[in-house]
Amino acid sequence: MSEENVGGMVTMTIDGRSGEFPADMTILEAARSMGVEIPTLCYSEAVSQYGACRLCTVEIVRRGRSRYVISCMHPVGPFEVRTDSAGIRDARRTLVEFFLARNPKSPELNALYAKFGGTGKPPYTLASQFGETKCILCGLCVRVCAEVIGASAVGFARRGMAKKVAAGMMRWSETCIGCGSCVYVCPTNAIAVADINSVPTGHVWKHEQDHRQCRTCASIHAQPEYFPDMQALTLRPEGE
Ligand code: SF4
Ligand code: FES
Repeated sequence: MSEENVGGMVTMTIDGRSGEFPADMTILEAARSMGVEIPTLCYSEAVSQYGACRLCTVEIVRRGRSRYVISCMHPVGPFEVRTDSAGIRDARRTLVEFFLARNPKSPELNALYAKFGGTGKPPYTLASQFGETKCILCGLCVRVCAEVIGASAVGFARRGMAKKVAAGMMRWSETCIGCGSCVYVCPTNAIAVADINSVPTGHVWKHEQDHRQCRTCASIHAQPEYFPDMQALTLRPEGE
């Protein structure tokens, strides 16, 4: 065991404050445990990490040498972490500028742009060339659907600038149960669910699903083919 990793614990400094952290912790987890805020777009503790947005970038300094790493995937170590230096704010602003290029009206992204010192119009625009999209390809919806719900109803399709999140065959997915988890985790409100004519209707990947309300709890919606499973759990969807 090295002196730097005593008893599975690592001493690390975050923004001038020293702490001891389990060696298998990430820098992001360590920072949050100290109440230090690091912005994230593609992170959720409920799913595996993917490192897509890079907004959680921090600076680590060890033996006088500094480099930038993504804190949601980088383990803690015997170094100094800077989470809010001028360079880090510049790097985060540049990342947000790229996201805004195809999602210029996003309230969430514009708020981040201002937070990191952005003023005026963001410098890049790809919306006229490639179309506007609210999706920043963070992959949270894909991971939550696969890892938490177990449905894998959505995934990434196509490549390059055409890359997008889509259901199977670019249509809708039979495995989607309309749980709305993808809507909940999406950081840019790219996915919508709405009531149409007072009927709860899930707009899941451009498909209007036939959802019914649970008579027992009045809050769970499901497609009719899932009624038998729900009844087995003593839930009684309306109309059955
Ligand atoms: S739809 Fe939302 S959650 Fe899914 S990849 Fe795009 S931004 Fe992320
Ligand atoms: S939150 Fe770390 S890369 Fe997105």
